[in-house]
Amino acid sequence: MIRVQGLTKDYGSRRAIDGLTFDVEQGEIIGFLGPNGAGKTTTMRILTAYMPPTEGQAIVAGYDVVEDSLEVRRRVGYLPETVPLYPDMTVFDYLKFMADLRHLPNAEERVDEVVEMVGLGERINSYIGTLSKGMRQRVGLAQALLHRPQVLILDEPTIGLDPAQVVEVRNLIREIGKERTVMLSTHILSEAQQLCDRVLIINKGKIVAEDTPANLQLRLSGGERMLVRVRGEAEEAAQVLHKVKGVQAIQAFPDGRIEFNFPPGQDVRAEVARALVQNGYDLLELRPLQMSLEEIFLELTRSEEQA
Ligand SMILES: Nc1ncnc2c1ncn2[C@@H]1O[C@H](COP(=O)(O)OP(=O)(O)OP(=O)(O)O)[C@@H](O)[C@H]1O
Ligand SMILES: [Mg+2]
Repeated sequence: MIRVQGLTKDYGSRRAIDGLTFDVEQGEIIGFLGPNGAGKTTTMRILTAYMPPTEGQAIVAGYDVVEDSLEVRRRVGYLPETVPLYPDMTVFDYLKFMADLRHLPNAEERVDEVVEMVGLGERINSYIGTLSKGMRQRVGLAQALLHRPQVLILDEPTIGLDPAQVVEVRNLIREIGKERTVMLSTHILSEAQQLCDRVLIINKGKIVAEDTPANLQLRLSGGERMLVRVRGEAEEAAQVLHKVKGVQAIQAFPDGRIEFNFPPGQDVRAEVARALVQNGYDLLELRPLQMSLEEIFLELTRSEEQA
């Protein structure tokens, strides 16, 4: 559904995205994660045919975003970062206007349908200027859905919403994602974890990771950092661990927790346990540390900085 090859965009001398290559399959919900300025919005604007790339190619719903930009726009729904809404129009008038721009048949019926879908029924005759941020976000979503697009591109769809509305919009996206291909950007890692089949992490215009949320977590934790907890002085117990082969980067905490690294594929648990017990420490806990998606994200974007 989305095929991206070597996509690059320069704003003057600033390279915003740099040789992005990825695919999104039909029916997939893909999360696009990255810090501020990573290039998410830039990529999305290219994929929705609002702006051409400097180099590279993007095929969306079977059409090239440069060669066949109109065909792409017909098949793609876009919720931009800042939704350009008209405060002096009612929800109905705005959506009808957008439907007419797209030359949709039975525009009024279709407007009623999308308004129902996004749960705006009661506010259909309200002026957009009087709506809350969350309601406006829904108008934006309704607009993106009008023409029954095969692909939806949502730039931070839950930003600025209250927690209840976040849940509602996520449920809506999940529902929409059952039939369509969805690409959404977010800074909220738990959101990606809840919604997405796969995540792309982008930093400084380059993809630094691409996997399922679960695999990312596995891959980066990899059992390489371990936690032990002893009764008593962790500082002292940590001295014992210094003598165990392979154990590195030992950190002791006042609550009796000790964390350490060990080389991949080398299980040091038995030796660590033995060493501690032989030296008179009660071993209360010994387990691999799972990195949270936040930690993975920081790790990935940090290592890129050093490179
Ligand atoms: N119209 C523009 N003119 C010049 N530079 C731009 C323009 N739009 C974006 N940039 C630059 O391109 C880079 C990528 O920006 P982009 O908006 O794509 O990032 P983003 O990942 O969407 O960030 P955020 O999370 O803050 O929305 C940034 O360095 C930004 O300053
Ligand atoms: Mg952005």
